[in-house]
Amino acid sequence: MPAENLAVIILAAGAGTRMKSKTPKVLHKLGGIPLLGHVLRTAAQLEPAYTVAVVRHQRDRVVEVIGELAPDTLIADQDEVPGTGRALEAGLEQIPADFDGDVVVLSGDVPLLDAPTVRRLLEAHRLDADQLTLLSAIYENPSGFGRIVRDTDGEFEAIVEHKDASERQLDITEINAGVYVFTASAARDALSRIGQDNTQGEKYLTDAASLIKRDGGRIAAVAVTDPWLVQGINDRAQLGGTAREYNRRILEYWMREGVTIVDPDTTIIEADVTIASDVEIQPGTQLRGATSIGEDAVIGPDTTLIDTEVGAGATVKRTDATLAVIGAGATVGPWSYLRPNSVVGDGAKVGTFVETKNATLHDGAKVPHLSYVGDAEIGSGSNLGAGTITANYDGVNKHRTVVGRDVKIGSDNVLIAPVEVGDGAYSGAGTTIRKDVPAGALALNVAPQRNLEGWVAKHRPGSASAKSAAAAGASSPVESDSSAEAE
Ligand code: UD1
Ligand code: MG
Repeated sequence: MPAENLAVIILAAGAGTRMKSKTPKVLHKLGGIPLLGHVLRTAAQLEPAYTVAVVRHQRDRVVEVIGELAPDTLIADQDEVPGTGRALEAGLEQIPADFDGDVVVLSGDVPLLDAPTVRRLLEAHRLDADQLTLLSAIYENPSGFGRIVRDTDGEFEAIVEHKDASERQLDITEINAGVYVFTASAARDALSRIGQDNTQGEKYLTDAASLIKRDGGRIAAVAVTDPWLVQGINDRAQLGGTAREYNRRILEYWMREGVTIVDPDTTIIEADVTIASDVEIQPGTQLRGATSIGEDAVIGPDTTLIDTEVGAGATVKRTDATLAVIGAGATVGPWSYLRPNSVVGDGAKVGTFVETKNATLHDGAKVPHLSYVGDAEIGSGSNLGAGTITANYDGVNKHRTVVGRDVKIGSDNVLIAPVEVGDGAYSGAGTTIRKDVPAGALALNVAPQRNLEGWVAKHRPGSASAKSAAAAGASSPVESDSSAEAE
């Protein structure tokens, strides 16, 4: 049940100049999710009657992402008047004029703020019947943030932006987190009265706070004890630092859930990954996107899995996989490359220097060494010899290779698709399989070998090879190739 007296407005219209990026700031990713995505998730957990996102800079790109992540979000377009105050005004216009509940204001660039913290802020707001309750934090290095100015009794007085602060105000370490609860009418009233008279020529939301205070309104600033919760991202250094801390928290969570992480310093696990207990993660591993890992699996070292599902007890070593499914007890790597839609069955094996794409290895199938398997299906219990590849592309179209059950393909085969190999068939080493092979047949098409005796002595006289051959008692130069031996 949405809370009828609650609206959430997310400010996401800013240019994000300090990021120096083509990508809008709020679309930069943290733990695999756009900054704005984190904020939309927090908003959703509050179950408000209205969620509004205020956009302007690269509007269409931002709106598209909102549509994917939280399609019920109302979109407010900020006009050419800059500043967080103007942004909130635009947001309020999307909410019915007679709404006078609480308006939670979140910044699209404060990603780690969680719903419990916002709920505590809301409780404080309702308890004290304030017009505005805001979140603050104590920062050792408050540079760049708005400072909370308090009077001699410690009561909230004003927020001063870094760029507008006096020398003395710059020493204040209590910063404005950019997270607020307004009573809707108080916000509408204050915003209609603030100007753009400041260093940046912007309509500051923070001036609304100072104004409400001057008019004798009730304002409380609630400090969070964990400053990371309100860390704003304004440049890449803050993004990198926050990403490291966020990752540290994710790893700690999984370790407490029973996952062994051998080297947390070189392990990256994104927000939407799920891991069962007794999984072991070796150094240099990245688990990204919607990857899931089953119980007792061993992942790494040096492995990157994106949107990949790994079954219980599987081993995945020095592997790069995207959109792959790895079955229970399967072994993958070292040095395997699983491209999208690779399915490795239970107990199957993808070995060293093997690339797969859009290929299914059924249970127990093996591709142990130096292979490319694309647009293919390999039946259960079958084995592809070392160096076997599927030739799936004729220069225009892709074709499928289907290998049945318990097939033994020899080493260094080329399977020219479209082609099928029946159940239980064999092929000789070096076979180029151009035609279907019936079940149980042995396929061979390698030309008989001819040995031209004495060829090196005649054609490479004086070479190291010729000398070694002579020392080994090789026959002297051929008269004709009549000595060629045919099988
Ligand atoms: C803001 C606060 C500052 C606080 C800090 C916390 C103001 C004036 N300052 O500063 O007191 O310490 O956040 O992180 O509010 N935005 C718009 N429209 C605009 C400008 C910004 O929607 O015209 C959005 C941005 O996309 C961003 C958020 O508002 O998500 C904050 O804007 P930003 O420019 O990052 O403000 P700060 O300088 O960080
Ligand atoms: Mg900011």
